[in-house]
Amino acid sequence: MRTILVTGGAGFIGANFIRFVLNARPAYQIINVDSLTYSGNLENLAGLERDERYRFVKADILDVAAMGPLMEEADAIVHMAAESHVDRSILDSTPFVQTNIAGTQVLLDAARKAERMGRFLYVSTDEVYGSLPLEDTSVLFTEETPLAPNSPYAASKTGGDLLARAYHHTFGMDIVTTRCSNNFGPYQFPEKVIPLFVTNLVEGKKVPLYGDGLNVRDWLHVDDHCEAILAVLEKGISGEVYNVGGNNERSNLELTHSILGLMGCGEEMIEYVCDRPGHDRRYAIDASKIKRELGWEPTRSAWPEAMAATVEWYKANAEWWQRVRSGAYRAYYEQQYGAR
Ligand code: NAD
Ligand code: DAU
Repeated sequence: MRTILVTGGAGFIGANFIRFVLNARPAYQIINVDSLTYSGNLENLAGLERDERYRFVKADILDVAAMGPLMEEADAIVHMAAESHVDRSILDSTPFVQTNIAGTQVLLDAARKAERMGRFLYVSTDEVYGSLPLEDTSVLFTEETPLAPNSPYAASKTGGDLLARAYHHTFGMDIVTTRCSNNFGPYQFPEKVIPLFVTNLVEGKKVPLYGDGLNVRDWLHVDDHCEAILAVLEKGISGEVYNVGGNNERSNLELTHSILGLMGCGEEMIEYVCDRPGHDRRYAIDASKIKRELGWEPTRSAWPEAMAATVEWYKANAEWWQRVRSGAYRAYYEQQYGAR
């Protein structure tokens, strides 16, 4: 039996990761620590409450006293708790610096002191590399690309990423890092572009496309990301960074047309709005290292099928996102866990 401490497991990727691991590894146990910020939603994990291999702990990763004992119970940590939305970081970067940098430092220190703790996996992002030009599509982010974050979100993730690097170098801790491109799939908070656009269209609202709509992202299905994280956790080389990507570059305009087509809506539903300040032009990942060294490559991100399945999921789970949009999902914790 192996116990993994997952931080941020009530969020989009965290919840998908927990479901993925419990399914793929019957001998693993998961402790999910999450403070349930606006994007943490225990409904994403509904059905697991009575699974003996899963336990939820409501705590903030900045809480030193709470993190120490949890580390003593685990063999490895997958750290993905974060403030994750670029637009929010432009409005107020304070929680980003606190959670993404200071919170990571708290966890690294707690892991260093814990007797039993083995591997520390830091879930980073391709945004640490900054932006690529649109003109030359042969240029991709490799693990050697210099770090040049452009948004407060990206800078705070880079802070956590570099702390993880430094703790490996200074203390010899067993640390691995993944840097992944844009994820899509079920349970994504409807502030991110895909669930925002789909849910707007279901409600008959227009979709706000930033700037000229030509910014490019490399889209990966969340289950492919989860599989990559597990591969790096189990087989990655200590101290190494692994890029994870879908080899699936789409401009926002192409993505929007795809969604409009799947929703049976026309061009008139696009509303061109002011650009995001400092908007990164293009992200594109060279994921050849993880394929070469660990044998991972995406198998669930094929376009347009994977995108169509995701749109279908949001259409079929309107109750989930309507509760999220209205804030009603926050009562779920009290219902499920309040009495304990
Ligand atoms: P999310 O916002 O959906 O989930 C974040 C989770 O972290 C939430 O459950 C929240 O409650 C929790 N959390 C936040 N602050 C906390 C704190 N101080 N203590 C405890 N828990 C806290 O984000 P996501 O999209 O699932 O992203 C998860 C991770 O993956 C992040 O580290 C993000 O940087 C990284 N990442 C995301 C993507 C993507 O496309 N979504 C791509 C690459 C990397
Ligand atoms: O690349 C990985 C990153 O992907 C993760 O590290 C972040 O946590 C995650 O949020 C995501 O960041 P992005 O900024 O790329 O995702 P977002 O969904 O916010 O935006 C995707 C693109 O769509 C981006 O170019 C901005 C554009 N956009 C977004 C919103 C919310 C719009 O045009 N309109 C919108 O309303």
